[in-house]
Amino acid sequence: MSLQRVCVADFEEEAKRVLPKAVYDYYRSGADEQGTLADNVAAFNRWRLVPRVLRDVSSVDLSVSVLGQKLSMPVCAAATAMQRMAHPEGETATARACRAVGTGMMLSSWATSTIEEVMSSMGASSPGGVMWLQLYIYKDRELTLSLVRRAEEAGYKAIFVTVDTPYLGRRRDDMRNRFKLPPHLSLSNFSSASLAFSEDNYGDDSGLAVYVAKAIDPSLSWDDITWLKKHTHLPVIVKGIVNADDAAQAVTYGVDGVLVSNHGARQLDGVSATLDVLEEVVQAVQGRCDVYMDGGVRRGTDVLKALALGATAVFIGRPVLWGLACQGEQGVTEVLELLKAELRLAMALTGCRSVSEVSRSLVRKVEFPSRM
Ligand code: FNR
Ligand code: LAC
Repeated sequence: MSLQRVCVADFEEEAKRVLPKAVYDYYRSGADEQGTLADNVAAFNRWRLVPRVLRDVSSVDLSVSVLGQKLSMPVCAAATAMQRMAHPEGETATARACRAVGTGMMLSSWATSTIEEVMSSMGASSPGGVMWLQLYIYKDRELTLSLVRRAEEAGYKAIFVTVDTPYLGRRRDDMRNRFKLPPHLSLSNFSSASLAFSEDNYGDDSGLAVYVAKAIDPSLSWDDITWLKKHTHLPVIVKGIVNADDAAQAVTYGVDGVLVSNHGARQLDGVSATLDVLEEVVQAVQGRCDVYMDGGVRRGTDVLKALALGATAVFIGRPVLWGLACQGEQGVTEVLELLKAELRLAMALTGCRSVSEVSRSLVRKVEFPSRM
């Protein structure tokens, strides 16, 4: 019998035991010396909660509306590539778990399941079982648009365009491991072997870094946001904003949301922790579009702090992968339910009966935090 898993860290510990080393390394890694990787998590300890009491918290409503869809909680699954390395059912298991919990899933362009099969694996649409597509913009724009069209046709509800990856960051373990997909898997949304990341010619480097340099367009600019919006009727959210000026600029380009993200600290070390820039982004946006955040969210109190600083919802990347590695759909469901239970308790114990009652006055920054 496996030990009881009572926090996200328990899932990671078990995932580390069951995953092949190169897979665990790829999922876990941050860029360079991984200072930002640690800081994304540590940033939450720089904020403390200041609860309200005597507010009748016998019932707490965690539901939120995200891009026009009602979700059971403000915690959604971020795009993480190549989920079938964690479990044979990969992205389809994650989608079913998100549906069961009533939340949204952002499917990676680099999924090991197709856009269509992930949607159909969810079965009939249900409240909260929402799919969004994360989009990488390829040098080949027709190919890029074909992903968008397929998502529209399959019933996806938004496009999260990733803007922080003109080149892939240096993940040292992946370089040492010469990371590539195991031979039985490929990036399923692409038919040619060179775009499916299933060739065998990636040399002595992280295969993914070589792939990105070949396929992804580093000339991306704001004009491409205009281009993308012109070609889809779906809401467009820019994923990978950490600078308040960029957030303000995104608003002028008519985006439907910004996702404050440093790509799980996988791109450039030394970048700010996302929680540390969230409030300035929220201020720059001035309510003109939604602001989401990801990076380092591991506990219900982390979610609560991000909401208090102005996020509409948060996304989790690695915790979903750990759940998937531990026990497929059931494992991801457990991770999501765990965060939901932790958030419900954190809201009750701070006097918040609904997400709309989570206000800025709930958190206070501490200058020299001791470890929590
Ligand atoms: C990612 N992330 C990511 N982002 C994206 O836009 N497209 C992608 O394909 C991937 N793939 C991916 C793989 C893995 C293994 C990880 C860990 C992350 C980034 C992801 O969407 C999200 O921004 C971070 O994972 C959030 O940080 P946490 O929750 O992992 O700390
Ligand atoms: C990564 C890419 C897939 O972070 O976004 O590995």
